[in-house]
Amino acid sequence: MDRKYLIKRALEAQKKAYVPYSKFRVGSAVLTEDGSIYTGCNIEISSYSPTLCAERTAIFKAISEGHKKIKAIAVVGDSDYTYPCGVCRQVIREFGKDAIVIVANSEDDYREYTLDELLPHSFGPEDLK
Ligand code: THU
Repeated sequence: MDRKYLIKRALEAQKKAYVPYSKFRVGSAVLTEDGSIYTGCNIEISSYSPTLCAERTAIFKAISEGHKKIKAIAVVGDSDYTYPCGVCRQVIREFGKDAIVIVANSEDDYREYTLDELLPHSFGPEDLK
């Protein structure tokens, strides 16, 4: 897996953030099982609650194109290492129990986690079987 390329794609997506309220830009890039990459930015809505995080934008784009599994996700934001919020962690869990989560400041400055490290003892699809 080319971590730097995934981060590069997330950085490109970050530029598209629609953030008139928080001005906090986030970008994300998702790697699917077959090697495809989908990107997303955060999108804010004036009534606030419909706001969508960059990670979920990217994941939902991948899923809506027929992918079922996420191998890795890169996240970049305006803070020093922007970590996925709790809701996004649960969404990553749905499609990537074994996913690698890359939290990056730049292509050369990143931290890497398993989803299980960020969301231990998680609830997921298997629980409903
Ligand atoms: N945000 C993300 O896009 N991803 C996260 O994981 C954290 C928060 C966005 C949502 C909102 O547009 C802005 O950052 C400030 O919360």
